[in-house]
Amino acid sequence: MWLNIKSFEEYQNIYRQSEKDRLKFWEHEAGTFYWRKSWDKVHSGGFEKGDIKWFEGGKLNITENALDRHLNTIGHKTAFIFEPNHPDSFRRTITYRQLHEDVCRFANVLESKGIEKGDRVCIYMAMTPELIIAALACARIGAVHSIVFAGFSAQSLAERIQDCDAKMLITNDGLRRGDKHVPLKDISDEALESCPTVKNVIVCQRTNRDIDWKDGRDEWWHNLIRNASKRHTAVEMDAEDPLFILYTSGSTGKPKGVLHTCGGYMVYTSYTFRNVFQVEEEDVYWCTADAGWITGHSYIIYGPLFNGATGIIFEGTPTYPDAGRLWEVVEKYKVTHFYTAPTAIRALMSYDLDYVRKYDLSSLKVLGSVGEPINEEAWHWYNDHVGGGKCPIVDTWWQTETGGIMISPLAGITPTKPGFATLPLPGISPALMDENGKEIEGNGVNGNLCIKHPWPGIARTVWGDHERYLKTYMSAYKGHYFTGDGCRRDAEGYYRITGRVDDVLNVSGHRLGTAEIENAINEHPNIVETAIVGYPHDIKGQGVFAFMICEKDPKDPDAFKKEIHDLVTKIIGPIAKPDKIQIVAGLPKTRSGKIMRRILRKIAADDMDNLGDTSTLLDPSVVDDIVAGKAI
Ligand code: WTA
Repeated sequence: MWLNIKSFEEYQNIYRQSEKDRLKFWEHEAGTFYWRKSWDKVHSGGFEKGDIKWFEGGKLNITENALDRHLNTIGHKTAFIFEPNHPDSFRRTITYRQLHEDVCRFANVLESKGIEKGDRVCIYMAMTPELIIAALACARIGAVHSIVFAGFSAQSLAERIQDCDAKMLITNDGLRRGDKHVPLKDISDEALESCPTVKNVIVCQRTNRDIDWKDGRDEWWHNLIRNASKRHTAVEMDAEDPLFILYTSGSTGKPKGVLHTCGGYMVYTSYTFRNVFQVEEEDVYWCTADAGWITGHSYIIYGPLFNGATGIIFEGTPTYPDAGRLWEVVEKYKVTHFYTAPTAIRALMSYDLDYVRKYDLSSLKVLGSVGEPINEEAWHWYNDHVGGGKCPIVDTWWQTETGGIMISPLAGITPTKPGFATLPLPGISPALMDENGKEIEGNGVNGNLCIKHPWPGIARTVWGDHERYLKTYMSAYKGHYFTGDGCRRDAEGYYRITGRVDDVLNVSGHRLGTAEIENAINEHPNIVETAIVGYPHDIKGQGVFAFMICEKDPKDPDAFKKEIHDLVTKIIGPIAKPDKIQIVAGLPKTRSGKIMRRILRKIAADDMDNLGDTSTLLDPSVVDDIVAGKAI
């Protein structure tokens, strides 16, 4: 029987047991899955060398655990309800049996196009069931999927395809998000000009707009599946074979391809989904994330399917056609579990409460939050107006690299506290570290958040750059995994994540590297140098503030701002556009040429009273000039 914690006392006991014998704990969890052959070794390797392995020698296919395993018991059950961008468009439900058939069909298509175990396939699609079918079909044949969020630009898409040498791209003709149209095929065509490894493009029809076509390369999804068999024997994988790559931003300019493997990721996402959300047989679970981010991978696709849950795939946005959309969907499908990001809550808080009150939300049992710290005001609004004061809020802390939730309440079991991710899940041992690399013991303390022991869901490497993996996560604190987050452990031992302590911004729950945005802006012919910092933003959590030195003062500031926006949109995507820009004569630099971001962050936050010691700067007067200047 798999672990399904039902009381706080049980949580505490199991946590203690897992600390005493970690391997036994994880081995027990793994034993609840379908393995074609059991593993030879539960776990080996460690943070020092970054050679972590779980369930090595175990043979499986993850889709047999997500789909085949359920056919005899819940084949008729709805796996997904698809809610399209426009409420009046065609919606559909897909049972586990249908999903299995669709995945098998598409797996056969992929194989017929020469895709083999280990090949990389890039998926750049609208949030529709086909995106999930494409990902699962890859997993079924042992191909490594790399889903790229459909808000990224052609250049970002190309970079991600090139980095992993993808052989195929699966996309749509276009997508609609709210009242915007995104021409995915045009963007793909542009990206593929610099991606010679891509031999085939499969295009799934969504918008029926005119698109260019390259014969011999492009084929329609619907033509290919027409004659494909609905039977497919899943390819046998080793537990440590790659499952997917997902690109995420770090502190250098280039996004890194975080790699997850089959066995450990399966065990971890399934275990965390079940215990954190406490979804029962008849429940309807809705995670509003996009499948282009890790939350979509772990808690729309994999975690819920292993557990036989019914999930919603939502193509739209929270404010289209109006700010009541999410609540309309909750009422319509009697959603019981609702998992979203604080930025969505903050955006909806700014609208009239009638948008919430209009709908019957009494089906809700559990609310979730992910992606960024949830401020207390948003927590209370969520609790009072959405949850009606009766739904526990699970504030789930985790990362692309952790594969699944690490610190979080278990719904209805762990007493919650606004703004706190509360306690670590059994099997996870957090540590707070001081700047000298020493662990800070006891409660009522602040430090940098590390994890002491490997867990099955941890990323195994950065694609093509193991050095970077070691440097980013394993070198700051020897023998520990470093998360990049600051954290408080309060008097009761509860954890509160305070935000990133590295050069990573969290804008509307999206991770962006400051260097990535700086590099993009520096492409502008009139820019000499740029420094990006984050600042508190009412809705986005963090906004992007760009300080830039120009060659010549721009004549028309508004037109200039637009040029910068267009450039960032072209190179990265609209999510990275600076909210504020300020043209400065110089940047505060140390004598060794390092930009003092601490000072810029204070200025950006309008916190001028305490700028700290500026005497070590090469030219302290630049600070006065920046303070006296104005952002546009
Ligand atoms: C932040 C998203 C506070 C954190 C799953 C982390 C959070 C980064 C929370 C990872 C939370 C995520 N409270 N902060 N509940 N959840 N974060 O890789 O800074 O997109 O390091 O994964 O988001 O973002 P990523």
